Amino acid sequence: MKNPPIKIAPSILNADLLRLDRAVAVAEHGRADAIHVDVMDGHFVPNLSMGPHIVECLHSATRLPLDVHLMVTNPGEHVDSFIKAGASNLTIHVEAKGDIAAILRRIKRGGVRSSICLKPDTPASKAGKYLALADMVLIMTVHPGYGGQKFMKSMLPKIRKLREMAGSRYENLDIEVDGGIIPATAIETVKAGANVLVAGWAIYGSRNPVKAAVRLRDIAECAMRERRKC
Ligand code: DX5
Ligand code: ZN
Repeated sequence: MKNPPIKIAPSILNADLLRLDRAVAVAEHGRADAIHVDVMDGHFVPNLSMGPHIVECLHSATRLPLDVHLMVTNPGEHVDSFIKAGASNLTIHVEAKGDIAAILRRIKRGGVRSSICLKPDTPASKAGKYLALADMVLIMTVHPGYGGQKFMKSMLPKIRKLREMAGSRYENLDIEVDGGIIPATAIETVKAGANVLVAGWAIYGSRNPVKAAVRLRDIAECAMRERRKC
């Protein structure tokens, strides 16, 4: 079975924001493929977090792609400022307001990768009509809003279902998982069909974050090799 390669995206949500340079260095030295930036509006999710200015600062500090996850009610009002700020990928939730397909097209026109995201209670089928427009589907493996939560094992069938829906037509579709990803859950999600792993606490909460990032990749790549044998 063909699957796109493993990508590791450390989430800076709970990194020390006074030392964002260190968080970036961890991602670079830890062989990460992208930096995951969580944008929360205090409405779509209860928490508030970062905006385009952080993305702009990161963009000037690193060549790593910036994987921006918009947890906002009206993504259409914000995508242009994140494109301008230097986002490499913009993820919008299918549960958000507005014409989701039109927003995905606008993101693409801006030269940025576009992705859709499903909250835990949203079934995989809701992603179906957007597969032709999206480079990636993000499956939340916790209820969005906070880092450091426990992985929801009940999301594994949804990951499997989505990889099945992507089939050979969208065989390059990235399937990202976000929330509670640690080595053990990385293995389970990769075996189910995910290939992009977001990790906040597992990396930035570790005593040796660079080593934690490298280890996560090694473990995920090993799980992918096993999956390919299936
Ligand atoms: C949660 C965010 C996540 C968060 C993940 O809503 O979307 O990206 O930072 O953090 P961990 O890996 O600690 O669960
Ligand atoms: Zn996220």
